[in-house]
Amino acid sequence: MSGLRLPAAVRLVEVGPRDGLQNEAATVPTETKAQWIGMLADAGVCEIEATSFVAPARVPQLADAENLMALLPTRAGVRYAALVPNEQGLARARHAALETVAVFTAASESFTRHNIGCSIDESLARFDPVVRESRRRGLRVRAYVSTVIGCPYEGAIPPARVREVCARLLELGVDEISLGDTIGVGTPARTQALLRAVGEIVPVERIAVHFHDTYGTALANICAALDYGVTIVDSATGGLGGCPYAPGARGNVATEDVVYLLEGSGVKTGVDLPRLLDAVDFIAAVLGHAPRSRTAQVPRGRLWWPPERTTPGS
Ligand code: HMG
Ligand code: MG
Repeated sequence: MSGLRLPAAVRLVEVGPRDGLQNEAATVPTETKAQWIGMLADAGVCEIEATSFVAPARVPQLADAENLMALLPTRAGVRYAALVPNEQGLARARHAALETVAVFTAASESFTRHNIGCSIDESLARFDPVVRESRRRGLRVRAYVSTVIGCPYEGAIPPARVREVCARLLELGVDEISLGDTIGVGTPARTQALLRAVGEIVPVERIAVHFHDTYGTALANICAALDYGVTIVDSATGGLGGCPYAPGARGNVATEDVVYLLEGSGVKTGVDLPRLLDAVDFIAAVLGHAPRSRTAQVPRGRLWWPPERTTPGS
């Protein structure tokens, strides 16, 4: 791919414990979640979205947020994030060892209604005190904008509409905006069109990309985003993920596939792939289904790792 511009390093944001587990039929025991997150940290994943402080009746798989946060291992350089939809969520998170609070809205009114029970305007009004209080506590604030390319209820979303929501989030004072292709309909061309629109107002170093992988285009979309200048990428171990309010959504792009893609292209992630795959195998056994990634299917003895030092037959 000559001419592809790549950064020297990428900040990976692991969303499997939140985006992944919210979409599983089974609820994983709290201690098991903590053990898995510890394995992710051991593999060098240093930014982990651990859970959500949302209404437990709506997402029962993450109802143990307070207890989980109390069990998370403290590791130098590892930062934990959690979704916080409103002041009630922030109050629940007050004792949690969080570095990042993540608020979430969408570029589509219908999705926002289904997901968080209000309009986009109302969601932004709810975030205002959450952002102010989080900043007062010295926390970073990430904001998700969902359905940035397509919406399960409204179809294609114009990039200008996403830019408008991003502008309002910047006014609220968020640090970073993660652009969510919630139902995974993006392509590289649409990704770059979106980034050109959003990039008119959001500095590229504050943009993250969050691709679900319904059509197998997520890795290509990530390349398109990196080429545009993005350096923050969300992914989920084992390709877990999906949103209970986004019919048709598939899992997130798999962290192990992203790590292979990036490290194999000379882009540093800080993640050790074999150790990450231990975490993939662990959670797959807990959930009782195989990981959805390509990399996890490679026999461990044949793993092409580290990419620059691997030789045939080794
Ligand atoms: P609400 O407006 O209060 O209304 O909640 P509600 O009817 O949905 O909930 C009412 C009940 O929840 C009340 O309790 C509230 O007190 C309680 P009741 O009186 O019935 O006993 N409640 C809470 N309880 C605990 N913690 C809270 C909280 N807030 C209210 N923080 C709310 C609005 C947003 C909380 C609710 O609609 C909700 O939790 N929705 C779930 C949203 C969610 O988690 N979606 C999935 C994550 S988003 C996603 O996956 C996309 C993303 O990955 C990016 C992408 O892929 O695009 C981020
Ligand atoms: Mg998601």
